[in-house]
Amino acid sequence: MCGIVGAVAQRDVAEILVEGLRRLEYRGYDSAGVAVINDGELRTTRRVGKVQELSAALDDSPLVGGTGIAHTRWATHGEPSERNAHPHLSSGDIAVVHNGIIENHNKLREMLKGLGYAFTSDTDTEVICHLVHHELKSHDTLLTAVQATVKQLEGAYGTVVIDRTDSDRMIVARSGSPLVIGFGLGENFVASDQLALLPVTRSFAFLEEGDVAEVTRRTVSIFDIDGNAVEREVKESEVTHDAGDKGEYRHYMLKEIYEQPRAIAHTLEGRIASGTVLDSAFGENAAEFLKDIKHVQIIACGTSYHAGMAARYWLEDWAGVSCNVEIASEFRYRKSHMFPNSLLVTISQSGETADTLAALRLAKEMGYKATMTICNSPGSSLVRESDMAYMMKAGAEIGVASTKAFTVQLAGLLMLTAVVGRHNGMSEEMQAKITQSLQSMPAKVEQALGLDDAIAELAEDFADKHHALFLGRGDQYPIAMEGALKLKEISYIHAEAYASGELKHGPLALIDADMPVIVVAPNNELLEKLKSNVEEVRARGGLMYVFADVDAEFESDDTMKVIQVPHCDEFMAALIYTIPLQLLSYHVALIKGTDVDQPRNLAKSVTVE
Ligand code: F6R
Repeated sequence: MCGIVGAVAQRDVAEILVEGLRRLEYRGYDSAGVAVINDGELRTTRRVGKVQELSAALDDSPLVGGTGIAHTRWATHGEPSERNAHPHLSSGDIAVVHNGIIENHNKLREMLKGLGYAFTSDTDTEVICHLVHHELKSHDTLLTAVQATVKQLEGAYGTVVIDRTDSDRMIVARSGSPLVIGFGLGENFVASDQLALLPVTRSFAFLEEGDVAEVTRRTVSIFDIDGNAVEREVKESEVTHDAGDKGEYRHYMLKEIYEQPRAIAHTLEGRIASGTVLDSAFGENAAEFLKDIKHVQIIACGTSYHAGMAARYWLEDWAGVSCNVEIASEFRYRKSHMFPNSLLVTISQSGETADTLAALRLAKEMGYKATMTICNSPGSSLVRESDMAYMMKAGAEIGVASTKAFTVQLAGLLMLTAVVGRHNGMSEEMQAKITQSLQSMPAKVEQALGLDDAIAELAEDFADKHHALFLGRGDQYPIAMEGALKLKEISYIHAEAYASGELKHGPLALIDADMPVIVVAPNNELLEKLKSNVEEVRARGGLMYVFADVDAEFESDDTMKVIQVPHCDEFMAALIYTIPLQLLSYHVALIKGTDVDQPRNLAKSVTVE
C-alpha cells in the first residue's frame, strides 16, 4: 500500500528512485512522484497514473541531485490527482512521502491552518510536512523536528522527510507501515520493501515500530520510540532472484503461476526427513511451542484466508485438533473465546497486512499458548512479532492477484497439519502419506499447468459474461472461493462461490444460460454428492464447466464442458485444483483486456485498515 523510496548519494538519484518505484508499483499505482534536492532547491515532478507516466515526464525534463524521495500512491484520503500525489511540500523547504493513514489529520490540519499554513491537497500526509516545518522553528535539527512531529501523529505511518537546506540527510520514521534501510558504499537508501533497492544494495536493516532514523551518505543512526540510540541488525537479503523482471512472460501473474512447481519445491527443501516433517521448518523452538497444542485459531485476509479455510479441514480431519478460521478484520474487533492450549496462526504473503498484524497483537494480549506465522516476507512485522515463523520460499510475488503465494501457503499448512498431528499421535503411516504427497506436489503442479491451452480456449466462453458461480465441497469449497476471488479481481466479472450443498438453499434461483457454473470435482468421498448438485444445475438449464478427476466419470455434452485434471491424492487435491482456476481467471482477464497485474482499485500489501 503506497511505495516509498529514498536515497542520499553522491550521484544523481532520480533514476534509482524511479526504478525503485517501478519495483514497488504493485503497492499502489494511481499516481507517482519524486522530489530531489539540487543546489539548495527542492524540485518535484508528480504525475497521475502509473510510474511510466512519471518516468516519461522525467525523460523530458530530468531532475538532477543526489538526495531525493519518491512515492507511488494508493489513494486513501483524496482522489488520485496530481495535487494529491506525493511528495508533499511545506513552504518549498520540506518534502515528505508517507504510507499509512494519519487518523487525527483533521485536528492537526485545523491547528496548522491557525498557524498560517495553506494546504494544497486533500491528503492526510500534508499535515506531516507542515508539522515538521513548524517544529523546525523550535528544534535545531531535522531529526529532532521529526521526532517531535511523530509524537503528535495518531494512526499509521512510514514516512521519509528531506529538507531543502540540508541535502546531507533524510529522516525516516516508522509506525505501522514497514520501512527498510539499504546500506551502500558512500550512499544509503530507504524503501518500503527491499525489492525496490535490490539493484543498488543487498544489505538491509528493518526499522522497528516507533523507530526514527537519520540517514546520511555514510551513517545511519536509529532511535527507538523513546529516543534511545539503538542498533538494528543488518542482514544480507535472502531474495534469491530478481523478481523485478517478467522474463519471457507477458504478465507477472502468468510468470508466478508458472513458478509454482519451483516455489513449492524450494519451500519443501530441507524440511522433510525420513517420512516426517521437521519441527524446525517452523523455527528454532517450534518443538517446544507445538507440544500440547489442542486447538488452532487461524487468522488471515483475502486469498490467505482461503488457504486457512482449506487447512481447517485438514487439521480437524488428519491432525485431530479443533480449528477455527477467521478474517482478521473481524477477529480484531470482536470479543472471541480462546480455547485452552491454542495456537494462533496468521497467514500472509506480505507479512505486513494491517488487520492481520493487529489480530496477532490482540492474540498475544489474550494469552494464546503460542503464535506462528506462515509468511513469504523475511523480516516482515508478522515474522518478527510471532513466536514461530514458517518461511514460505515462493520468491517475491509482484502480480497483485496472489497465485504462487496461495499454493505455497497450502503446502506450508499441510506441513503444519503433519507436525501438529505428530504431536497429537498421528500414525507414522499417515505422516509418510502426507510427506510423499508433499514431495510429489511440484511434478503434479507441472502436469496441471499442461491444461493451459485447453483453458485458454474455454475462457472465450466468458468474454460476454457478467456473473459466474463456483462450486466445491469439503476442502474444495475454499478453492472455489479462491477461484471466484481471482476471477472477480482481475476480470471484473462478478463471481460467487458456494459449498455446493448450499445451492438449493437459495443460489439455485440464479441459474440460467447466462450464468456459467464452475465446478471443482476431484475423485473423493464427496464426489457422488457433488454429482447430485451438478444435476440440480443441469435441470435448471445452467451451463457448467467441470474440472474433474480423470476417473470421476464426467462427460462433456451440450450442458457441460469437462476439463480433466491429472489424478491426485486427497492431500494435494485442493492445491492442484487451484491451478486451472488461476489459469481460467488469467485467460478471461486477457480476453477482457483488463490490467492483469495491477487491477483497478487494488494494491498489494494492505498496510492500512
Ligand atoms: C488476492 C490477494 C489478497 C491478499 C490479502 C492478504 O489475490 O492477494 O486478497 O491475499 O490482501 O494479503 P497478505 O497475504 O499479504 O496478508
